[in-house]
Amino acid sequence: MRRLTVDPASPDPVAIAAAAAVLRAGGLVAFPTETVYGLGADALDPAAVRRIFEAKGRPAFNPVIVHVASLEHARRLTRRWPASATRLASRFWPGPLTLVLPKDVSVPDIVTAGLDAVGLRVPAHPVALALIRAADLPVAAPSANRFTQLSPTSADHVARALGDRVDILLDGGNAQVGIESTVVDLTGAVPRLLRPGMISRAMLEAVAGPLAHDEAEPSGDAPRRSPGQVERHYAPRAALELLTRSQLESLPASREQAVREEHLGVLPYSDVPLPPGIHVVRLPADADGYARDLYSALHQLDDAGCKRILVELPPDLPEWNAVHDRLRRAAH
Ligand code: TXA
Ligand code: MG
Repeated sequence: MRRLTVDPASPDPVAIAAAAAVLRAGGLVAFPTETVYGLGADALDPAAVRRIFEAKGRPAFNPVIVHVASLEHARRLTRRWPASATRLASRFWPGPLTLVLPKDVSVPDIVTAGLDAVGLRVPAHPVALALIRAADLPVAAPSANRFTQLSPTSADHVARALGDRVDILLDGGNAQVGIESTVVDLTGAVPRLLRPGMISRAMLEAVAGPLAHDEAEPSGDAPRRSPGQVERHYAPRAALELLTRSQLESLPASREQAVREEHLGVLPYSDVPLPPGIHVVRLPADADGYARDLYSALHQLDDAGCKRILVELPPDLPEWNAVHDRLRRAAH
C-alpha cells in the first residue's frame, strides 16, 4: 500500500493524480471524506467494485454509496430526479447526506446489491472532491473498514484495518463529522430516513417537508429497511454496554472483577468519579464534538486492549439521535 499525505485544505495535485490513475486502472483508493474515510473504486467497473467487497470482507447484499462531484453528475446516474432531490441536494451538497434514487442502467448491479436504486452523495472534503474530479468518474465508496467493524476517522485506522488490501491511502487528517452520512430514500412518494446522521430529521424536514415515519427511526430494536442496517455494525472489538448515569455511579461495587480482568474502558458523559485502573476517554459535551471523536475513542479503547467498554448515554435530545443510533448498533 502506498500512503500519501496530503494537505486536507489544498491537496497536492501530484498525489491526487496518482490516486486518480489507480481508480482509472480499476484499483482501490482509500480517501478522507468529511464523515469517515471511504474505500473507493470506479463505480462503473463491476470488477473494481468487487474488489471493495473482497477487501472489506463484506457480503454482496450491502449496497455501496456512489460519490460524485456535482448535482448534475448525480442526476445523470438516476432515471428519475424528483423535486425533493433538487431541494435537498441544493441545500446539503457538498455534505454528509446520501440520497437514494432510481438508478440509471449505467450503474452496475453490484454497486446497488441488485436494488433498483442507487445511493448518491457529493462529499464536502477537498481531497475527496479533487480525487473524484481528477479521476473523472463516479467513485463507489463504503467506509474503509472491515465488515461490521468501526468506521475509520483517520488514515491510521484505515491502515490498520485494511493494510495492503488498498493500493493507495490518501492521508488527509481526521474526519470532521466523524459518523456516516444521513441516508434518505427518495424512491417513494414521501422521503424516508434510512440512516440517521448529523444532518437531522428536522433539518431535512425544513427543506423537504415531513418525512415518512418508519422503523429506521433511532428507537427500539425493530428491523431496519435499509440494507446493511440490521446486524451489529459500527462496532468496536470490545463488548459495548450502554449505561445510565446512576448505573455508572454504582460501577466500582458491581464491576470489580471486570475492572481487573477485562481492561474496562469507559466513555463517561457526566463527571461521575471513576475508580482507578479504568481506561477513561472523555468526549466533548456537545453532539457535534461527541460524534466527531466517538469512533476514534472506541478505536483507542480497542487498541488499549479493553475487552469491555461502558458508555454513559448522552442526553436523549433530537440532536443526539445519530449518536444514539450508532451507540445502539455498537452495543447490539
Ligand atoms: O458517510 C458515509 O456515507 C460514508 C462515506 C465514505 O461516504 N460511506 C458509508 O458507506 O458509510 P457504507 O457502504 O459503509 O454504508 C452504505 C449504507 C448501506 O449500508 C445502506 O444502508 C445505505 O448506505 N445505502 C447505500 N446505497 C443504498 C441503496 N441503493 N438503497 C438503500 N440504501 C443504500
Ligand atoms: Mg460502513
